Amino acid sequence: MKLEAQFVSSALALADCPGWDCAEVAFAGRSNVGKSSLLNALTGTRGLARTSKTPGRTRCLNFFAACETLALVDLPGYGYAKMSHADAAKLADLLRAYLEKRRNLVALVMLVDARRGPQREELELAAMVRARGIALIVAATKCDKLRNSERAAAIKRFTPLGLELIMCSAKSGEKIDELRRLILARADARDSRRGREA
Ligand code: GTP
Ligand code: MG
Repeated sequence: MKLEAQFVSSALALADCPGWDCAEVAFAGRSNVGKSSLLNALTGTRGLARTSKTPGRTRCLNFFAACETLALVDLPGYGYAKMSHADAAKLADLLRAYLEKRRNLVALVMLVDARRGPQREELELAAMVRARGIALIVAATKCDKLRNSERAAAIKRFTPLGLELIMCSAKSGEKIDELRRLILARADARDSRRGREA
């Protein structure tokens, strides 16, 4: 099963987002958590989304078209300490506007740091998309760095909040196939709902 994608455009405001009818699956999470790397692993295209060792790399919404009906969106990371207050506030507004208003959004892949457990921002993101009835997929990436005991502890931190963790890794490829399947299933669900409505 493939999920190839091509870069289409970047947006600094909701009004600059593509005017298409594609279902969008977006990737959100703390800066440096591994969003862009995960996107590259899922599409099998190294260098599609720009990654970096230094946090704060992605500062706009980046749109990647997978097929006529599905697009992936790399969102700017939050929580980058060295960013100016004004820049961080601007990015937070852009993220919120996209998550609360973008009609194309069908699922959010929320990337979390398994070692830290859910933080205030993650709980806010989860509440925001759930309020709109948008599917939430919680992925703990970089799981190649975790010992088995750390994995078990992570699951305990997230499940009481109703967040089912998918432990994955862009580096080792663990659970990347499963994540890809979940993403394609969301786009299919929207297509078939529309087919029934037509
Ligand atoms: P921003 O765009 O700044 O918000 O960051 P990001 O969330 O897009 O993170 P990015 O994909 O750029 O990755 C940040 C760093 O983590 C890079 O040095 C990656 O090589 C590393 N990284 C990403 N995914 C993995 C993973 O699964 N395992 C390991 N070990 N390292 C990873
Ligand atoms: Mg990035």
